[in-house]
Amino acid sequence: MGGMSTDPSTATPPPPRIRPLPDALINKIAAGEVVERPASVVKELLENAIDAGARRIAVTIEEGGRTLIRVSDDGQGIPAEDAALAFAQHATSKIQSPEDLFAITTMGFRGEALASIASVSHATLTTRTRAAEHAIVLEVKDSVLAPAVPAAAPPGTTLEIRDLFYSVPARRKFLRTDATEFSHIHEMVLRSALPHPEVGFTLGHNSRTVLELRATQDAHLRVAEALTGSDGGGDLHAQLIPLRFEERGIGISGFAGQPSLARPNVKFQYLFLNGRFIRDRSLFHALKEAYRGLIEPAAQPAAILFLRMDPSWFDVNVHPQKTEVRFRDSGSVYRAVLAALREKLLSSDLTPQVRTANRFEGAGGQGGGQGSAGSHGPWSGARDASSSRDSAETRQVIAEFFRQASPAQPRLEYGVETSPSPIDDPSRVTFGEPRASEKPESAEAPAALVEHQHLKSEGRFIQLHNTFIVAESGDAAGGIVIIDQHALHERILYEELFARATRGALEGQRLLLPEILPITPRHAAALETVRPLLATLGIEITDFDAGSIAVHSFPSLLSKVNPREFLRDLLDRLLDVGGGGSKLAPEELLHEVLDMASCKAAVKAGYPLSQEEIAALLARKEQVDRSSNCPHGRPTTLRLSLSDLERQFKRK
Ligand SMILES: Nc1ncnc2c1ncn2[C@@H]1O[C@H](COP(=O)(O)OP(=O)(O)OP(=O)(O)O)[C@@H](O)[C@H]1O
Ligand SMILES: [Mg+2]
Repeated sequence: MGGMSTDPSTATPPPPRIRPLPDALINKIAAGEVVERPASVVKELLENAIDAGARRIAVTIEEGGRTLIRVSDDGQGIPAEDAALAFAQHATSKIQSPEDLFAITTMGFRGEALASIASVSHATLTTRTRAAEHAIVLEVKDSVLAPAVPAAAPPGTTLEIRDLFYSVPARRKFLRTDATEFSHIHEMVLRSALPHPEVGFTLGHNSRTVLELRATQDAHLRVAEALTGSDGGGDLHAQLIPLRFEERGIGISGFAGQPSLARPNVKFQYLFLNGRFIRDRSLFHALKEAYRGLIEPAAQPAAILFLRMDPSWFDVNVHPQKTEVRFRDSGSVYRAVLAALREKLLSSDLTPQVRTANRFEGAGGQGGGQGSAGSHGPWSGARDASSSRDSAETRQVIAEFFRQASPAQPRLEYGVETSPSPIDDPSRVTFGEPRASEKPESAEAPAALVEHQHLKSEGRFIQLHNTFIVAESGDAAGGIVIIDQHALHERILYEELFARATRGALEGQRLLLPEILPITPRHAAALETVRPLLATLGIEITDFDAGSIAVHSFPSLLSKVNPREFLRDLLDRLLDVGGGGSKLAPEELLHEVLDMASCKAAVKAGYPLSQEEIAALLARKEQVDRSSNCPHGRPTTLRLSLSDLERQFKRK
């Protein structure tokens, strides 16, 4: 290796000097973080209007915000002598001391938004306090602030932002179509409107009014009105269950969406913290967790939650757009959100209504009964008010119902008594404690049935297609419920197993001969993760020889399940989902095991049921939690209310 070259011709030039940036450039850099697209401007202007105590806010947009964004409010206005400072960087009326930064009660606090926006646009501020005799107008053009001039305007503030990004062509190029940019703006208006029902909002695009929300004291009404447009109408109000929760300084109010409102995306998920829209991975996880077993795993629940807590319990100053916060005790917030939703969901009737009324009365001309319904089967499609093609299907089912259930013959004999089932075993719907006599010929009603007959339950019923139970609704609203026998039985078994497993060890039934099952080393590893859990369920397993295990006992509740098949499928499943189960949280592991057990033990579609079995199924339905959905989140029950039926048949 030679020495360093000292030849002056190859020496590097001296390093560039450090110089302070000019203000205009500082603002542009800040704007890069704060102002990403027209919607970010709208967000900042709306926050300022809310901070100013506005009761009416009008947003006017032209060409997706490219040419004009105007936000007018009737808030407190800016005193004439301060107006120029509104555009200055790091100038704010909202905080003064470092302590204030950790107890922020306003949307804004950095004194940065207007300076940033005005550095990449032409901005005009018109403002008037209530005490002032007239308004003043200030204009910023090419980063130069013109002196204020008096003007006529009512108290409040209007900001007009023209030619956004005229000075930053790179940003301009990144803008999408007007429609896309406007949809982001629309979303921003919703985020301001949802937590502020007391404020009236209008939003116009290219001189068309797109949104009009009147001020109201009713948060439920506001949420329903604001979000209705975003999903093609439908009775959103009825599908949002109000909730209120308070625990150790954390207040949560808002709405839990019915499982039927779940969507493939997060469009109906909103979290607000002290009125500020936030995104928080951990809290989104809590939402999802609360709906476990009520919606399909890939679906996103609907929930609009307003969290309240002392402002010193979190830090907003961690994200350029202020949409992420850092909680001092994120665990408590997580638990509160989970508890608030769970409590509400467990105490609510989540049976989806089959909504037919609007579409029967010829809404829109899309008509035509072609095509299949949504991916979750015809019924979930029928609940989706945005698609009209389901009406024919719904009609068909209703027609089918009446064809089969002629009034002269209210109960059809579909039971095992008249047509022997493929597996001739009337006791296979097993409820409660195992009966003393497990003899297959025993056709007596399950013990639990007698116990629970006094409960409010569905009325008369029949089984159709050996798969669905159609019953008179026991609900005050009357009508018809249609039940998927497998899905409902699955949920019942799941809850039963869950209750027992968490109450303490379950008694297993000794097998006369142990069941021997060959297993691979990977299966053996997966087995280790669930062995203690299986033991509490009454499944006792020992090693048999090098490549196989022996099952010695199995829960009587699962007497219809083949132990070897159950274990093989469970271990396969664990290898699929979570590194042999080792990556799953205890709760998830329990869910997997119970899920597998209840699915295998539940009566299958296509099996005829006796009257007693159906009665027992319906009676148990009233007793278990979350009976509206099976453990995978699919509905167990659909309801057609009496008033809906009367409307359909034009009886009203
Ligand atoms: N619509 C309005 N009504 C009344 N005062 C306003 C309005 N918009 C802005 N102001 C005043 O102008 C100041 C600067 O606004 P700007 O949005 O730039 O900063 P900020 O809201 O204080 O903080 P942030 O940068 O976090 O938004 C505000 O502190 C407020 O005093
Ligand atoms: Mg602001």
